[in-house]
Amino acid sequence: MRTAIKLVIALGTVVVLTVGGFAAYIAWSFAQSSIDTVGKVDFDRPLVIPPLAESTVDPSGVRTFDLTMQAGESDLGRGAPTPTWGFNGSFLGPTLRATRGEQVRVNVTSRLGETSTVHWHGMHLPASMDGGPRQPIQPGGRWSPHWTIDQPAATLWYHPHPHGETAKHVYRGLAGMFLLDDANDVALPKTYGVDDFPIMVQDKAFDGNQLDESHGLFQSTGILGDTVLVNGTPGAFLQATTERVRLRVLNGSNARVYRFHFDDNRRYAVVASDGGLLPRPVLTDELLLSPGERAEIVVDVRPGDRTVLQSAPPTGDGNRFTGGSDRLDILELRGATTLAPSPPLPSELAPAPDLADDVIGATRSISLSGTRTNFGKMDMGRVDIVSTLDTTESWTVTNADGQVHNFHIHDVQFQVIRYAGGPPPAVLAGWKDTVLIPNGASVELRMRFTDFADTQSPYMFHCHLLRHEDEGLMGQFVVARPGETADRIEVSDHADHGAGAAAEKRTTRHTH
Ligand code: C2O
Ligand code: CU
Repeated sequence: MRTAIKLVIALGTVVVLTVGGFAAYIAWSFAQSSIDTVGKVDFDRPLVIPPLAESTVDPSGVRTFDLTMQAGESDLGRGAPTPTWGFNGSFLGPTLRATRGEQVRVNVTSRLGETSTVHWHGMHLPASMDGGPRQPIQPGGRWSPHWTIDQPAATLWYHPHPHGETAKHVYRGLAGMFLLDDANDVALPKTYGVDDFPIMVQDKAFDGNQLDESHGLFQSTGILGDTVLVNGTPGAFLQATTERVRLRVLNGSNARVYRFHFDDNRRYAVVASDGGLLPRPVLTDELLLSPGERAEIVVDVRPGDRTVLQSAPPTGDGNRFTGGSDRLDILELRGATTLAPSPPLPSELAPAPDLADDVIGATRSISLSGTRTNFGKMDMGRVDIVSTLDTTESWTVTNADGQVHNFHIHDVQFQVIRYAGGPPPAVLAGWKDTVLIPNGASVELRMRFTDFADTQSPYMFHCHLLRHEDEGLMGQFVVARPGETADRIEVSDHADHGAGAAAEKRTTRHTH
């Protein structure tokens, strides 16, 4: 009898402790989950500007870059060095730069201990050069993609894309910018590191001096950090020496959406989006950028200026577990006491995207929910969409679960036709490759598939919240010549783990 009572008491205690512990955990997570660093950042480090990558041009005109993926240690402001990964250094990578019409080659060498890839985000190029999960680079291996730059001037970027491991590889520091120039000589600030700056924004969480790669139980979006690095610099300030500066802002974060504004609410001009210049500058005092998106902004600077680039709660839902209620200090912009003159802002910038009146070759619906699309979870062996070369398609992408999702497609830049039931906002009036899909809403995109057909090599489309992508919110499409289809791409065990694209076999069927 006594034993039974003791047992009941003991069991009751376990239940109480368990329930109580879980409640405490929820309360703790809730308290941890809202981040506010406004006014708490000492901007005491000059913004690091990634070097322009060296390159050589051979007699046939091919411009060759060398990138080495390596592990190292970086000063991220933690007192002790932080173990990180980088290209040609310990963290991030040099800025690649090339001009429209140029042939480029990049020799990528890996000194990492695990298989990775390098993807050229925003680039129009053959699928076999794209650097998605089908072009793995083994530890100690080398991959040398080459292609011809054939798209308007733009701020692109590069980062790893290994199947299921992208979040980790990017988070540890593998990312860099890839700037494209063309002959369209618009009078914008354009001297790299003088009045034209890369601004790669990434949030990090730390455990002591180590990058914290864990995420809370309720943080389905993945890692959200309370330290914002710009080009790898914590607490960065940028000293402007000209009347206007051009900031090429890249959201290189794993999961965080930013609503960029200055602390004095000054207006600035958005002049370019992912795929290049907008038709005309858009004056605004705030700008939303989801992971993977870029925007170039031109900011007026006054002598002796001090203003802080910040992020306000981005998504309006105030969801504490997706960063929806976070406020962040990002970068201090300082004006020198005397400023060199800058050109006035042009009123016209570039031709607007022109796909709205095209004949539509195919209409597709894609829904994003949890960690899968309507085609299911990402399957390396499954081709979800076969698009036909030289046709324009209409893709309607729906955020079906009200979580934070965006949508990125490889190879093409798209035109936003409808955005959440209305015409696209002016900042989405240019070419885009990544777009935020608002909670529960649909976005209609149009894109034209040109130049490269290859039923053996799929391109990817996916949510660019990297944890969602890794867990399966990704699909594959191929561009085929008229009459060609491709339904399965066989993947050996080997290739499934990213080991060898050569081990792939394909099933292609010709229809007549
Ligand atoms: Cu920036 Cu498929 O990636
Ligand atoms: Cu998502």
